[in-house]
Amino acid sequence: MSSQQSVPAHVAIIMDGNGRWAKSRNLPRLEGHRRGADRARDVVEWAKDAGIKQLSLYAFSTENWERPDAEVRGLMALLALLLPRRVPEMMQEGVRLLALGDIDALPKRAQRALRAAMEKTAANKTIDLILCLNYGGRQEILAGVRRTLLWALEQEDPKAAVAALTVDDFAAQLGRDGVLPVDLIIRTGGEQRISNFHLWDSAYAELYFSPTYWPDYTREELQAAVDDYARRERRFGLTGEQLR
Ligand code: FPP
Repeated sequence: MSSQQSVPAHVAIIMDGNGRWAKSRNLPRLEGHRRGADRARDVVEWAKDAGIKQLSLYAFSTENWERPDAEVRGLMALLALLLPRRVPEMMQEGVRLLALGDIDALPKRAQRALRAAMEKTAANKTIDLILCLNYGGRQEILAGVRRTLLWALEQEDPKAAVAALTVDDFAAQLGRDGVLPVDLIIRTGGEQRISNFHLWDSAYAELYFSPTYWPDYTREELQAAVDDYARRERRFGLTGEQLR
């Protein structure tokens, strides 16, 4: 078991492999997503037990709109159906629900379910579940650039204001208030890429790839990733000697 200080505070998961899981069983893709949604519920509990403070789940990317219509509608319907059902559990477990992504562009039913669940769980303190919905890392950065430009235009000397901007100033424009830096990104399903997830915050995130399809993910797999993280030396550009 890893010691408490080496537990990643924010773990982000790319829940990949639902489609292949379903295909390998001759089931419709949506059945893979249904099973995936069950694992999404389980992993919050496993993360909480592991001492993780924030868990972000890539539930729907800005690119996922291009999937077949029935799959997109199915995913949105699943969200609207399951979220209200999960609120009592979230209250019991102390889960605060947050969201990243362009929520206003989701179907109204999904928006309502999401906003209601966020409101009800707002005072919970044990773990944050951050659902990334209609989320794209490039889009998030672009939105931050737009906000920064508008802010700069209002300054007395816009050129000087832009020249003086720091990394922290810009990060404050990303709409990620209350979201901790990502410590560990886990991707299931065997592919080894980031796919537009947490681009800004993946700068110093540790990466962990698992071949398991998301519907088959287990508590032991999450613990293996957390233990692997605990063995890594995070240097943030410094030398190992400087850290010691
Ligand atoms: C990737 O698997 C998974 C998704 C695009 C959706 C993830 C959604 C859930 C786990 C359900 C919970 C979320 C909602 C919105 C209800 P894939 O379909 O790309 O799998 P493949 O690569 O094997 O085809």
